[in-house]
Amino acid sequence: GVKEMKIGIDKIGFFTSHLFVDMKELAFARAEDPNKYLIGIGQSKMAVIPPSQDVVTMAANAAARILTTADKEQISYVIFATESGIDNSKATAVYLARLLGLKKEIRAIELKQACYGATAGIQLARGFVALNPDSKVLVIAADNARYGIKSPGEPTQGGGAVALLIGTNPQILALEDGSTAYTQDIMDFWRPLGKNEALVDGRYSEDVYLNFFSHVWQAYLDKTGYQLGDFAALLFHLPYTKMGLKALRIALKDARPDEAVNFVQEFEHARTFNREVGNLYTGSLYLSLLSLLFNSEKLRAGQRIGLFSYGSGAEAEFYSGIVQPNFKQGLMNVNYLQVLNERQEVSVSEYEKLYQQHLFSAQEGRVAYDTDPARYFFAGISDFKRQYQEK
Ligand code: HMG
Repeated sequence: GVKEMKIGIDKIGFFTSHLFVDMKELAFARAEDPNKYLIGIGQSKMAVIPPSQDVVTMAANAAARILTTADKEQISYVIFATESGIDNSKATAVYLARLLGLKKEIRAIELKQACYGATAGIQLARGFVALNPDSKVLVIAADNARYGIKSPGEPTQGGGAVALLIGTNPQILALEDGSTAYTQDIMDFWRPLGKNEALVDGRYSEDVYLNFFSHVWQAYLDKTGYQLGDFAALLFHLPYTKMGLKALRIALKDARPDEAVNFVQEFEHARTFNREVGNLYTGSLYLSLLSLLFNSEKLRAGQRIGLFSYGSGAEAEFYSGIVQPNFKQGLMNVNYLQVLNERQEVSVSEYEKLYQQHLFSAQEGRVAYDTDPARYFFAGISDFKRQYQEK
């Protein structure tokens, strides 16, 4: 039956662009103390998404890192979570399925609820796989996190995509029952149609994030009877890594000192990659999961990890999963440290130029892509049709 079947995350793939800006340089340019960004915000580098990448190409580049021919045969559902949509009608998942060469006998849809969307996608996928155990679902979390240049949100930008393959007998994480969700209509962060940058009430958004965390975390403990000590690590949506640390402190408020040290160590592993990339919006929690799996020395099969998902507007969920014996294989031997270290630094003025050069929907034009080394790229818009290509 459904109860005995293990369903969860079988593989994880991540992609971000080949460009970044150094947070110290950004701090100098904005006349801020570098430690405000490095410590106060908790970010070292910020991915700069060139105009030749959008959510579809980033998703394709992430998924191409994990999918085998056999996976492509088994995928019967593509759920694409994004808040950087490119069309009011046509789903990003449809372009993606074609670029990846998936079968045509599939469902392909887009989901939206700020940074929470991918978690909704994973839970939908879990239910779908329970009813269709021979199927796999490709869940995508992809965004380009844009705030105004020189706005307070600027140092919390970033971008990229995480591709998650969901199926039975997963290699990485078996999802547990009993998640807790919470939704309330709140204006902490939003992006009205036609605006290419998010609007945000920054301080307020932090308060809402923390209130929602307290709520779903306590509700989860009450519902399951678990205690802090039943978890090997806690993962958070990381709009910037300091935000997760603030939530972790709430969870650790009654912890024994030795227990607290352990959680803080695992948190450092879980934020290593996010520190280097910035906010991925929908993908941030799952980049943090990848970072923990890749960097932790202590994590073992059979251990429970907790995941806190938050999307402004606002919606949150806490759920857990059990680490599986082959979790390292599920990362498909990609050396993400090397991938991140091989990126090119751009100056602050170059980043500002690239920021302005993005083509948004209902614009026409060509995009320079010669210097973009990624396999899938966006070449521009003609006749109001987006042009995607593969190298
Ligand atoms: P700000 O006003 O520029 O920064 O905005 P600040 O003055 O509050 O300083 C930030 C921190 O740096 C503070 O630490 C300072 O003390 C510290 P805190 O009090 O918070 O612990 N600081 C220093 N530390 C060390 N050395 C120094 C130094 N100077 C200062 N010299 C803010 C910060 C995050 C509000 C802004 O960047 C922003 O609006 N960001 C965007 C909104 C956001 O990310 N909100 C997060 C919660 S909402 C969410 O997660 C959802 C989201 O991902 C969207 C979605 O769901 O789709 C955003």
